[in-house]
Amino acid sequence: MRRKWKSCLFLMMLCLVLAGCAGQDMQESTGQTQDTDTVTESRITQETETAEESTQAMSEGSDIPEQEYSLAEIYEDNFPVGVALPGWIFQAGAEYEELILANFNSITCENEMKPDAILDREASRADLENTYRRAAVKFDACMPAVEFAKEHGLKIRLHTLVWHSQTPRWFFTEDYTDDGELVDREVMLARMENYIADVLTYFKENHPGLIYAVDVVNEAFDSGTGDENEVRMTDNLWYETVGADYYYQAFVFARNYASPDMKLFYNDYGCMYKTDRILKNLAQAKEEGLIDGIGMQSHLSVNEDIQYKFMFAVRAFCDAGYEVQATELDIGIEDTEDTTLMRQGRKYRSFFGNMKKLQEEGYAITGITVWGLHDGASWRGDEWPLLFDADLNPKKAYLGAALDPSIPAVE
Ligand code: XIL
Repeated sequence: MRRKWKSCLFLMMLCLVLAGCAGQDMQESTGQTQDTDTVTESRITQETETAEESTQAMSEGSDIPEQEYSLAEIYEDNFPVGVALPGWIFQAGAEYEELILANFNSITCENEMKPDAILDREASRADLENTYRRAAVKFDACMPAVEFAKEHGLKIRLHTLVWHSQTPRWFFTEDYTDDGELVDREVMLARMENYIADVLTYFKENHPGLIYAVDVVNEAFDSGTGDENEVRMTDNLWYETVGADYYYQAFVFARNYASPDMKLFYNDYGCMYKTDRILKNLAQAKEEGLIDGIGMQSHLSVNEDIQYKFMFAVRAFCDAGYEVQATELDIGIEDTEDTTLMRQGRKYRSFFGNMKKLQEEGYAITGITVWGLHDGASWRGDEWPLLFDADLNPKKAYLGAALDPSIPAVE
């Protein structure tokens, strides 16, 4: 679609250009002021600029270097390619929209579908007789994302239902105040069930087909903060109120209320360092058919071993019968020297290339989502971990993700 549209536009613009500014230097006429080095750096093809490219850049009226790749298209036979987006980005302008739509066919709300965005404290407190076991919910924070996705035919990963973080303390107390007494297991299980029911039912009924994956439980296992089975105890009000089986209960409820097209995921960080633990703790839910996939967050650094260590974990999860999605990919670096940016590009190439290869070998890899659009909007902003820089220029990381030949494979 995009290419066809561009070809038409190109022909029209070419006529205009030939008629109006014959002989004039193209580069000048586009108003591009980047020096040659920057242009070479930021362009994703290494070819000499052609009239077509200049005309396209001019026609789009922006100084963002034209890019020829679409990650979604490159991987369309393998898996969706997604991006996590904050709510403000939907008002941020056409350049953002263009970049998102050119590259991604799935989105995740970076914060707007977390419990602290969905739980409605005022409405819950105003009517305690009725809300004691069923806290009120609202969906206004995620509406821009939902509307954007529906308008442009993107799918959404729902992140996340049950998590120790970004879930307000008031949700766990008797009177929905921050410093109230914690409720007991029975009440908190009812609140968990109703919260999961209300969120999933809302999407099922109002936006059928939109949500393809749900992070039912996030970050429940951690050796440093966990009990004897490494279930996180510290700073975890779910553990404190419901008990060590809270993550299992969440899957029981989620399976009950999800539609069949919503795949249910357990999502966690550092999965390559705790693969066996995750498999062990999820075994019961898996056996009972309550869980479909494992979301490997993939907050990595260039110093980590992707090709072997990370991919071993991917294969182990798939071999155990799970789908695998990389749900929050970013790869941090310590400086922005050319050589470091190239290392980052190669790691991205390794990540995307190996995931594609495994998928083609039959491993059930069903998505890669990068955690943010550009370095300036990353939660790890001081580590430049994403595909585009703060000016929305594609980095070597992007070229790597697109398997561009200018980025050599790691191996
Ligand atoms: C992060 C967001 O990116 C930040 O904007 C927010 O302030 C904190 O949460 N693991 C997760 C994500 O599962 O939800 C986190 O997102 C990053 C770590």
